Amino acid sequence: TTRLIIDTDTAGDDCFSLLLGLLHPKAKLEAVTICNGNVDFDQQVENALHTIEVTGRGGEVPVYLGSARPLMGRWQAASFHGSNGMSERQFEPAKQRPESKHAIDAIIDLVMANPGEISIIAQAPLTNIALAFLKEPKIAKALKHLWIMGGTDHAFGNITPMAEFNFFVDPEAAKIVLGAGFNITLSTWTLTLKSGSFDAATVDAIEKLDTPLSRFYMQVTETPRRVAFERYGETISTHPDSLTCAMAIDESLILESAAVVVDVEVGGDLSRGHSSVYPARLVERWPDRDANARIVRTADTKGFANMMMSVLA
Ligand code: BDR
Ligand code: CA
Repeated sequence: TTRLIIDTDTAGDDCFSLLLGLLHPKAKLEAVTICNGNVDFDQQVENALHTIEVTGRGGEVPVYLGSARPLMGRWQAASFHGSNGMSERQFEPAKQRPESKHAIDAIIDLVMANPGEISIIAQAPLTNIALAFLKEPKIAKALKHLWIMGGTDHAFGNITPMAEFNFFVDPEAAKIVLGAGFNITLSTWTLTLKSGSFDAATVDAIEKLDTPLSRFYMQVTETPRRVAFERYGETISTHPDSLTCAMAIDESLILESAAVVVDVEVGGDLSRGHSSVYPARLVERWPDRDANARIVRTADTKGFANMMMSVLA
């Protein structure tokens, strides 16, 4: 069993990562922590609580509120998932309420009480993870595994040409986290486009499941599917966050990966938030640089789709 904390700016695909964490038999979701990112902070909290409730498990997983703003960046909503992050669908307010403990303390307490046991899926800007590390640096070694959805493998971003959204919103936090000594796997936007997107046939198959969760899927992904079509000229449903969670639950979904030296550009007019990725085996002439992450280059799209379908069914 993989014991998970999911740190999320809940909107769009963030929801399906939560569903995998909540419902997959090999996962145990211990906590959900909310970070600034996709849409208005309070809206993200409601989206997370609603997603938990949709599974019928309302009240079973605590939700903690984290940083409502990035360290230094200017926060701006992503338009990708609609203004409420849920393709404009309105849902009844959830009955569960968030905990009063701050997300940063929740992360520290859970990780330090269970050394080597807990993994984090970081699928939002890295503000909460950076602040938790700054408050208690021992979490870097006590955490089993930090799965980061962020950055690109080479420049083709989704918010600027050179940057992916999560790293762009809080590059300083990303830089702190990547340099902190965690056991990191990086799941990039480049990987999302290559291996983490469902084609029209898969989306059809999900619609045909015709379960409450498949209907929830069709509703929440409506705007992102339309935006993806406008941008990329194909019917695809992109799953950056849920692919990351799926790989954490079942590492055999990782088909190709490499040890890399990765850092984040915090300056630069055009390059702020850009992830610099270099193969660890070529790094000997770069002083004081060592491998600090494993990057995933190819994942098993079919296996991932099967996992998602089994959970939505
Ligand atoms: C990431 O940015 C957000 O919009 C998504 O939730 C995902 O975490 C993809 O770049
Ligand atoms: Ca996200």
